[in-house]
Amino acid sequence: MNTPVSGCPYTPPPQRKHTEPVPLYGDSYHGNPDLWQELREQIGPVVQVELEPRADEDQEPLTAWLLLDYNTNLSVLTNPLLYTKDSRGWPALTSGRLSPASPLYAFAEWRPNAFFVDGDEHARLRSPITAALDAYSRRQVNRDVGALADRMIDSFAHRGEVDLVGEYAQLIPLFMTTRLMGLSDEDGFEVAQAMSNLWQAGEKTVEAHLWLQQRLLDLAVEKRADPGDDVTSMMVQHENALTDAEVRDQLMLLFAAGHEPAKNAIANTLFMLLTKPEFRGALATSASLIRETLDQSMWLHPPLKCLISRYATRDVQLGGKEIRTGDALVLGFAPAHGDPALLGGSGESPYSLTATSRAHLMWGAGPHKCPADTFAQHMVIGAIERLIDRIPDLRLAVPAEEVERNDSPWLAGITALPATFSPVRPAREAEPAADSDDAAPDGEPGNPPHLSSSVPSIGTSAPEPPAAERQGLWSRLNALARWLSRR
Ligand code: HEM
Repeated sequence: MNTPVSGCPYTPPPQRKHTEPVPLYGDSYHGNPDLWQELREQIGPVVQVELEPRADEDQEPLTAWLLLDYNTNLSVLTNPLLYTKDSRGWPALTSGRLSPASPLYAFAEWRPNAFFVDGDEHARLRSPITAALDAYSRRQVNRDVGALADRMIDSFAHRGEVDLVGEYAQLIPLFMTTRLMGLSDEDGFEVAQAMSNLWQAGEKTVEAHLWLQQRLLDLAVEKRADPGDDVTSMMVQHENALTDAEVRDQLMLLFAAGHEPAKNAIANTLFMLLTKPEFRGALATSASLIRETLDQSMWLHPPLKCLISRYATRDVQLGGKEIRTGDALVLGFAPAHGDPALLGGSGESPYSLTATSRAHLMWGAGPHKCPADTFAQHMVIGAIERLIDRIPDLRLAVPAEEVERNDSPWLAGITALPATFSPVRPAREAEPAADSDDAAPDGEPGNPPHLSSSVPSIGTSAPEPPAAERQGLWSRLNALARWLSRR
């Protein structure tokens, strides 16, 4: 047993038995910021973890291998022969031990898209995605993100206060992805709403999934018949000749893979800008400074902390552990970014060394590396640049310590980021809503009133938020989306 040295306030962490899987939940996980380093020191670079609590004592633990250091993560990411993306051989799935009711099921359930296949099939499904995303130029991203950002900002500009997560960071990637796909903002809103129901894994999940599948299949059919300048059209026309159903499945992947990490990246980067005095320089809207801060936030607060995403194709030794065929591996982005080996004895953080500042693993590596890294970076930077440009005196409304972070081992986001500022004019002056046939009365969905007649000027006090705005998030979004679609 470890006993503290008399008079010394340091208490060594409890030693763990090497044979027991370490729970990634409950007291041993939550509230221990040093967990990754403790596990590295006590067990090594690869640790067997228990992914979720058992229903009862007799139930078999749900386990996987968590990769803790940078090099082990990199070697697994870049070795598709030993570590496949195909989850269908994972005993937890084949035996039914991982229940569809588990939040982890969505990460592991095999689907016919580029994320879950390897080799030639992977290349066939991935090429149309990369070609389409590459063709969606930086200019298009900047144009779309600027226009979207303006409309989001206009919806709260008069108030002088905003939750930057709920009203900004989560909306930008949703609507950017639906625009990317060639959907109008109104159709995009319906798709986003269905996606939200899907993510919430509630009673509406099945219905939302079926609706979404059909809507995206229809979109593929529509774009094949009448192509436009969007990612769906480029995918249906690609030489790899994907069927409409295959295009639908890849569109579902774009949504599933992109939304949460991008939302978290916007929120985390904004948080750094607003809290660290040394980053206030970026508030001068320099894209390169915002980009640098984004890279730093990717190191310090990776939007995905860990990801169940590889399965051993054969029995193999990894980090001194015996991994069995079919075993699941958990990529550890957050643990890898804190790997002391990266510091090279310099004592400096990796992101402060110019040469390594972009060597974080947050875009992945190897054949499955994020195909949207450039798109996502332009989107995040563009969204922040426009926000700070429009609202230069943006500041946190609560002390930094009170900002709540998601404490899950999987996603690393901020739950809410309340900010205040001096009210500003909308970028677009009042819509001619009052004259139009479909104008809705103030306060009703379809016409957020602060966007119409009574726009406060800089320095005036903001009017009481309208009734529609005080309703739930999706009602507000609905109002916003309808307004957006009337441009
Ligand atoms: C800051 C935002 C983002 C981060 C940090 C991120 C990170 C990642 C990572 C780490 C992977 C590799 C996973 C693995 O190897 O198992 C990945 C794959 C992927 N990401 Fe992203 N991503 C982001 C945004 C996006 C967006 C906006 C989209 C779509 C518009 C997207 C689409 C994809 C797709 C389709 C894959 C699968 C690629 C494949 O398996 O070949 N990502 N992403």
